[in-house]
Amino acid sequence: MVREWDPRTASSAEIASLLDTLNAVLAADLPQDPPWRESSLREYLAEVMPGERRISWIAQEDPDVDGSPGAILGQVHVLLLGNIGVLEVLVHPSVRRSGLGRDLVLRAARRVYQEGFESIGVEVVGDTPAVAFYESLGFTREYVETRSVLDLAGVDWAELAEMSTGVGAGYRVQFHPGGPPDELIDAYARAKAEVRDIEDGELRPSSYDPQRLRDSLDCLHRRGMKPYIVLALHEQTGEVAGLTEVVVPAQHPTRADQYDTIVVQDHRGYGIDRAIKARMLLELRSAEPQLTEVQTWNAQANEAMLKVNAELGYRTDRDWCEYSVDVAELVHRLDATR
Ligand SMILES: CC(C)(COP(=O)(O)OP(=O)(O)OC[C@H]1O[C@@H](n2cnc3c(N)ncnc32)[C@H](O)[C@@H]1OP(=O)(O)O)[C@@H](O)C(=O)NCCC(=O)NCCS
Repeated sequence: MVREWDPRTASSAEIASLLDTLNAVLAADLPQDPPWRESSLREYLAEVMPGERRISWIAQEDPDVDGSPGAILGQVHVLLLGNIGVLEVLVHPSVRRSGLGRDLVLRAARRVYQEGFESIGVEVVGDTPAVAFYESLGFTREYVETRSVLDLAGVDWAELAEMSTGVGAGYRVQFHPGGPPDELIDAYARAKAEVRDIEDGELRPSSYDPQRLRDSLDCLHRRGMKPYIVLALHEQTGEVAGLTEVVVPAQHPTRADQYDTIVVQDHRGYGIDRAIKARMLLELRSAEPQLTEVQTWNAQANEAMLKVNAELGYRTDRDWCEYSVDVAELVHRLDATR
């Protein structure tokens, strides 16, 4: 049975069952990824940025004879933001290829259509069944990034310490667990605004407006995801010349996610990129001792960033693609094949 589902009011048994399915999916599709934990999973699923909405449905087995609720074998949610619905679907490996994935997408697509949104976007992990699935539904590939993973056990910490100090004169490198301090929010947002054009078209818009940045940091904290920031301050102007962001999610605290790394155009060529990334790893080593890996996503065209990542010891993992589809066409196509 498929029904709309609200993680805020769901029972603990449902949250636990969804976690089992998520981990079965990871074991089947991404066996190198750490399994997720229940810690803050409800908040991860429920919390959104101001002005955004996430709507979810689950596919649940019938209740047992003793009345206990059946397992959750599939889930779809759609995040409504701007003029796009961002979709995520999960189907337990034991019930795949029976049409459940398609059914779940249809549920979400109908709602996105009714709400007046034009397109649906989705992140699709390369070399998994999701690629053939979304292509069979008419989604087209918009953008490809490569995921890379750094195994902290292989890091040469002495070399990293040296890299972290190799920044040109006139810059001060600072570490800020939890997010940038309030007095630097405006300068921080200005640095992020620099890459706004490049990031247009991505599913997760960067926070280049100070209030949006505050909201986004607040949202991360509410979802159980702890942000860490290292920035390079240009001492003469007080401007943020470069920044790098890593998030440690309570749901998989052994593998952190690298978010943005930006060096503002005027400040390129002074070793800032290498220094701030190296400093971040050094800080994380003491701030998050359970951490064993960091993962990052980069466009293939971003050669400078890929070069720095390779020097730090990142190994290329797999492609991570963004697909999209026109909602009206998708609903029409899925209704026609039922
Ligand atoms: C992608 C996914 C949702 C598909 O679910 P599903 O219930 O198996 O999909 P359906 O049965 O509705 O398949 C619909 C169509 O998609 C295509 N398809 C689905 N899986 C496929 C596969 N493994 N190989 C080729 N085509 C496939 C087929 O055309 C299929 O139609 P058919 O079975 O009539 O040939 C499921 O594999 C899944 O949960 N993957 C993980 C998704 C994810 O987000 N992962 C992120 C963390 S790893």
